Amino acid sequence: MTTLDLDIVRAQFPSFANPDTASWAHLENAGGSYCPVQVVDLVTDLFAHAKCQPRWGFGPSVAATEAMDRARLVMAELFNCREHEIHFGPSTSQNTYVLAKAMRPLWDEGDEIVVTDQDHEANQGAWRRLADSGITVKEWQVDPATGLLDESALDELISERTRLVAVCHASNIAATINPVRSIADRIHAVGGHIVVDGVSYAPHSAVDVAELDCDIYLYSMYKTYGPHVGLMYTRASVLEQMTNQGHYFKEGHPEGYLTPAGPDHAMIGAAAGVADYYDVVAAAHGIDAPVRLDRAKALFELFGEHEETLMAPVLDLLETKDDVTLVGARSADHSVRAPTISFHTTKRSSASVYEALIAARISCGHGNFYAHRLLGALGLDLDDGVVRLSAVHYNTAEEMARACQVLDEVL
Ligand SMILES: Cc1ncc(COP(=O)(O)O)c(C=O)c1O
Repeated sequence: MTTLDLDIVRAQFPSFANPDTASWAHLENAGGSYCPVQVVDLVTDLFAHAKCQPRWGFGPSVAATEAMDRARLVMAELFNCREHEIHFGPSTSQNTYVLAKAMRPLWDEGDEIVVTDQDHEANQGAWRRLADSGITVKEWQVDPATGLLDESALDELISERTRLVAVCHASNIAATINPVRSIADRIHAVGGHIVVDGVSYAPHSAVDVAELDCDIYLYSMYKTYGPHVGLMYTRASVLEQMTNQGHYFKEGHPEGYLTPAGPDHAMIGAAAGVADYYDVVAAAHGIDAPVRLDRAKALFELFGEHEETLMAPVLDLLETKDDVTLVGARSADHSVRAPTISFHTTKRSSASVYEALIAARISCGHGNFYAHRLLGALGLDLDDGVVRLSAVHYNTAEEMARACQVLDEVL
């Protein structure tokens, strides 16, 4: 059986060639992941040779156009959708802000939407604000002991008037994978739509929006080895119904409806580097399926198996500590959860655990990570919050062992 060759993986990341950066065990990936050389080179090249307005006939402009078009194409291939269903915006938070404005006119006063208290505020706040304009907002609440959502509770919340369910594929704190396809089926049965926040899921798994049957899928490239842009898949048939949020003359051109701001052309072009990176690592592991998504699925299986070996020792250690509470599922299975481990202890503040980890050069964070409502539901102090260690496939067993050693000492 092939296993992930970390030397090949880490050789792609300039951060690991820099002695100072490499001396940190980067376990704050859920906040922002490192970029492979394929992305860094594209950023450099586009800033040096194509930093101008695209869509004209002069050389650098042609290069900028080609780079942006290629990024849209490869991301569509990765998501299993069509190019005009891919939108790049400044961030996921800004994308949901625009989406909520674009979708509100589709609904009548008294229509309903369901949000969770598990999601990052990016996939809650913009939807909750629609209550100000007569939309009934229902909250799908987590179990306060685990931070997990129970799908059966959704039946109570969905009615004939439900127009939208907003849910995360995996929370940035609880990290446990929600059953998106099954949720999509439930909301589609009453004619509503689903918007999925895949920001914390996508760094760990291939995303097939057709298989998930989701209407909108949100993804932050900067947490998935790419530049700082938000990417959003929007099903063409749903997009066509939305109201235009771009300039008035974009009316009739749905591909312009959701991007009122001028995008960062070079960063969009550089997004293709993520797919190039996947291809380099896939090829090095003998993965050569002709379809890009199939290659990604096979590659992410390798990533997932490695990530299981990274999270298992940390979960095992936390299990031995009576006064430590893990948020989310107690499983290292990568089909159950992402390798983001959030916990708190009655013995010490999360801040003090964080400080000990930082002193050992382990990059991590503590607090609420903009999942205020989840922290509130768990009964935690919003500022001290949880300690969060978030790995991705490029992390090593040695880095996790370092983290475990510190945790064993301080917990
Ligand atoms: C799960 C999740 N959703 C959404 C966001 C917001 O993403 P952005 O920074 O692109 O607005 C984050 C950021 O931390 C996140 O972790």
